Amino acid sequence: MSSSLPQRIHLANLPTPLQQITFRNSKFLIKRDDLTGVETTGNKIRKLEYILADALRKKANLLYTCGGDQSNHARATLYAGRSVGLDTKLFLWGEDISLPEGNLFLDKILKPKIVYLTEAEYHNVHEIMNESETKEKNKKVYLVPEGGSSPHGILGYANCVSELYQDLPKRVKGILTAAGSGGTTAGLVIGSKLFGIPLKVFAVNVLTSKSLIENRVMSVIEKTIAKFNLDISVSHKDFEVIDGYSKEGYKNITDKKVKVIKEFAQSTGILLDPAYTGKAFCAFNDYFLSPKKTADIIFLHTGGLFGVFSKREQYLRV
Ligand SMILES: Cc1ncc(COP(=O)(O)O)c(C=O)c1O
Repeated sequence: MSSSLPQRIHLANLPTPLQQITFRNSKFLIKRDDLTGVETTGNKIRKLEYILADALRKKANLLYTCGGDQSNHARATLYAGRSVGLDTKLFLWGEDISLPEGNLFLDKILKPKIVYLTEAEYHNVHEIMNESETKEKNKKVYLVPEGGSSPHGILGYANCVSELYQDLPKRVKGILTAAGSGGTTAGLVIGSKLFGIPLKVFAVNVLTSKSLIENRVMSVIEKTIAKFNLDISVSHKDFEVIDGYSKEGYKNITDKKVKVIKEFAQSTGILLDPAYTGKAFCAFNDYFLSPKKTADIIFLHTGGLFGVFSKREQYLRV
C-alpha cells in the first residue's frame, strides 16, 4: 500500500487463501478471511492491524470497544490487544450469564471489565463510552468504534484488495461481504479505487436497515479519504447493498438459512456463522450462483465461527 498511509502491525495470518469451491454444481471463489487467526479469526484482525498500531503510537494503555454479547469484533480486539500488552474494556449489548457460549465465553477467559447494556442503552453506546472515559484515572483510553470501522480500521480491507490483486482471474467483477458496521465494505471500495481494480462490492446488511448501512459506508469512506488525503473519488454506485437477508433480526436466523449453512458445511467442509456469513452466503447463493456456471463474484468469508455455539440447538435440530 502507498507509503503515505499509516503503518500497520502484523497480527493476521496473511495472505489468506483464495479457494475454488463447488456448491450445488456451481463454482466460485471464496476468500478465506476466516483463516486470519485462531482466537482472532475473521475480518476484524485486518482492521486491528492499523487500529492497534495507531493506539500504540498514541501511547494508549486501555482500549474501549463495543458490540453484541456475541461480538466477534469485541473478542478479536480483546485477544489482539492482549497480544500487544493492551487491556480492553467491553461495552456489550446483552446480559451477564454465568456459563456463556461462544465469543462471550472466550471474552470472559481474559477477565476484561465488561459493561452490559440493554438494547435501548446500546443505541447510545458511543456516548456511554465517551462518558466512561472521562471517569478513568491514570488511563489513556483509545476508543475503537463498533466493528473497528474507523478510518484506520478500514484500511485493513483496502489492504485485502491489494492481496486479492496478486491472484485475481480476469473474469472476477466483484466481491460480496456481510455488512454489520460497514467498515469491511468501505475498505474494499477504497482498496479497489486505490489499486485501480474495478471490483464492485456487494454488502449484505445483517444489523441495520439498507439506508442506514449505505450512509455509514459512505460516511466512513469520506472520513478516510479526508483523513489520509487519498486521491480517489467514490460514489454510491461503487457498492450495492443486498437487503432482506436478516429480517429475523441480527441475533436470530431462520431454519431455512441454517439448512443452507449445514448443506454448505457438509459439501465443502467450511462452516458459516449464524449472524453474518451464513446470511451473506444465502444472498450470494440466490443472486450469483447457478448450476454448471462459474460465478464472477468472490464470496468473502469474514469468519465468526464462535457464533455457532450460541445456536447449537438450532444447528443440530434443522
Ligand atoms: C463474522 C463477521 N462478518 C462480517 C462482519 C461485518 O463487518 P463490518 O462490521 O466491517 O461490516 C462482522 C462484524 O461486524 C463479523 O463479525
